Amino acid sequence: MHILVTGGAGYIGSHTCIALIEAGHTVVVVDDFSNSHPEALKRVETICETSVPLYQGDVGSRALLEQIFSEHNIDGVIHFAGSKAVGESVEKPMLYYRNNVTASQVLIETMQHAGVHTLVFSSSATVYGDPHSVPIAEDFPVGATNPYGRSKLVVEQIMQDQAVANSAFNAIILRYFNPVGAHASGKIGEDPNGIPNNLMPFIAQVAVGKRSELSIFGGDYPTKDGTGVRDYIHVCDLAEGHAKALETLHGKPGAHIFNLGTGAGVSVLDMVKAYARVSQRPIPYQIVARRPGDVAQCYASPDHAKTVLGWQAVRSLDDMVASSWRWQSSNPHGYREA
Ligand code: UD1
Repeated sequence: MHILVTGGAGYIGSHTCIALIEAGHTVVVVDDFSNSHPEALKRVETICETSVPLYQGDVGSRALLEQIFSEHNIDGVIHFAGSKAVGESVEKPMLYYRNNVTASQVLIETMQHAGVHTLVFSSSATVYGDPHSVPIAEDFPVGATNPYGRSKLVVEQIMQDQAVANSAFNAIILRYFNPVGAHASGKIGEDPNGIPNNLMPFIAQVAVGKRSELSIFGGDYPTKDGTGVRDYIHVCDLAEGHAKALETLHGKPGAHIFNLGTGAGVSVLDMVKAYARVSQRPIPYQIVARRPGDVAQCYASPDHAKTVLGWQAVRSLDDMVASSWRWQSSNPHGYREA
């Protein structure tokens, strides 16, 4: 298949380009590099020994999308482009609704006009809010607690409405748990701007000496060691899940929702210990107050994806940590030094 990947230079997007190419597909990327670096795509081209056509610009630009659909015979779209920081979304909600909701609406309208019917959307486990129990299945109640989460939920609902109205439309909604790790080559990985919001890139920067210590947000949760429990999934497993979803569901209209997670709960302290062991670096930490909006435990039931897509995560926690460390230690300043 010939796939348009929006946000294809970003963390999950770049790994997914590789998974698609390795599965025999071809990709076209649109990215505005607002939270990504062109170097990531150059490295994808090196790893895959192929060139990847790139359109630099905003996915909310109808003219740009029309140009791409007229210049390429696109079979399906994987839509990663968007803003993803929870805190920023509270400060700048209109930015989040424009980048995440309005842009997605323009994309869906342009797809319909171009006769492209398959859309894979990067949603998030954040749509489950504070789940009543774990593991979380796809039919659990949804409800977001911040503009970022609401923007994901609204796009899910827009896609489901479109699947009702347009009997050809194929809405594939993938709810990611916590993507971490990097490509085995160590050439591409997560490269956040400024101070990382998320746990894994923060630990990686402590291990490499860029930051002095980790603040662990809360040591009094009702979990095995008092720290928050999450479902960390290797970004390459996640990327392969996208290829599987496209291959299995292309040509099967309707709305399809899947959790992409491992089903295993890992605490913050588990992750700190694994990182210190694998990197052989100390990870100094301090337990501080809980972060507002965090839940105690969040991990997936991965059964639906396994049954329908024949996909499950295969990489271990040590693979996640070792690949993260390979990327971080060989690129301490991310793509910026390239
Ligand atoms: C966060 C977002 C979620 C988003 C996801 C994208 C929040 C509240 N949630 O999920 O909406 O979809 O990122 O990747 O921001 N932690 C620390 N110290 C740190 C950073 C994190 O102790 O410096 C802890 C957190 O309290 C949590 C765990 O590590 O228990 C994972 O945090 P994080 O990586 O930010 O992911 P989520 O909060 O699960």
